[in-house]
Amino acid sequence: MTAPLILVPSDPLAPRAPDQHFLREADAARQAGIDLAVVDHDAILAGDVRAAVRRVAASDGVRPGWYRGWMLPSGAYGRLGAALETRGVRLCTDPAAYRTAHELPGWYDTFADLTPASVWMPWTAGIAPTPGDIGALVADLGGGPGVVKDYVKSRKHEWDEACFVPELSDAATAARVIARMVELQGADLSGGIVVRAFEQFLSDDDGRALEARVWWVAGAPVLVTPHPDAPAGTTVEVPAEALDGVRACVRALGAPFVTTDLALRSDGEWRVIEVGDGQVSDLPADQEPGVLVGALAAAG
Ligand SMILES: Nc1ncnc2c1ncn2[C@@H]1O[C@H](COP(=O)(O)OP(=O)(O)OP(=O)(O)O)[C@@H](O)[C@H]1O
Ligand SMILES: [Mg+2]
Repeated sequence: MTAPLILVPSDPLAPRAPDQHFLREADAARQAGIDLAVVDHDAILAGDVRAAVRRVAASDGVRPGWYRGWMLPSGAYGRLGAALETRGVRLCTDPAAYRTAHELPGWYDTFADLTPASVWMPWTAGIAPTPGDIGALVADLGGGPGVVKDYVKSRKHEWDEACFVPELSDAATAARVIARMVELQGADLSGGIVVRAFEQFLSDDDGRALEARVWWVAGAPVLVTPHPDAPAGTTVEVPAEALDGVRACVRALGAPFVTTDLALRSDGEWRVIEVGDGQVSDLPADQEPGVLVGALAAAG
């Protein structure tokens, strides 16, 4: 088996070097003897994937690769994968698996028993939905409070304005919050509109749900960290029984490297707030990256 390569974004100001944000992971890979290459994130987004991979040394045969970088739209990830193949590198997560783990409609059914009830519809960036559009969408959730996002990201920092709906049966208010979410996402709106039933989670002093991010490689939980937005020094623990339920879903999903963000609901149930492709999940700044990098190297 050929050892896997780890691909990180290049520093826009020093294109041969890893982006500062991924430097600790890059250093950990080098120290562990894992080969590293940089890809140009801006070129990927600009559609010039040939240029994006030009610093990846071509290898004979097929070499497995893991990406550790900024989030990519699913289409761009697929184009990156195709460009890497021309250099003899095959991403361990194929484009279909990436989309499945990265976008809520891809992972929702597999995790339905463990995650807040959700509905969604494809939507075009820049168009404001009407109360009629939204009333039809949320009917299956019944009433009660809700949380809105696109297929990947919320506007959680604009909570009252563009994320939280106090009562979903009030279609006018729901449409106003969702229209604001769509407006703020702008051209970056990913896929469409998602509406989720609100659940009460254990939270920190700022009212933010306390989340544990579990990192799964080849179906095994290799690392548990706080959510990267949590204050430095936050510690989290997830009981083994909670991990057991999530493990079955992660394995059913089939993507080889995923994260699950877990929070404790007020009734004591561990819930999955979000699933993500591990390649584009952020690691807390104070987290030692060696364990994760080592797990990826071993699984390639
Ligand atoms: N159904 C829900 N019930 C209660 N709170 C929720 C729900 N969904 C999301 N939240 C809260 O909103 C926050 C943002 O939601 P989510 O993680 O889905 O969006 P995001 O923008 O992708 O966040 P991230 O920064 O983790 O990528 C969560 O961290 C949680 O505090
Ligand atoms: Mg989240």
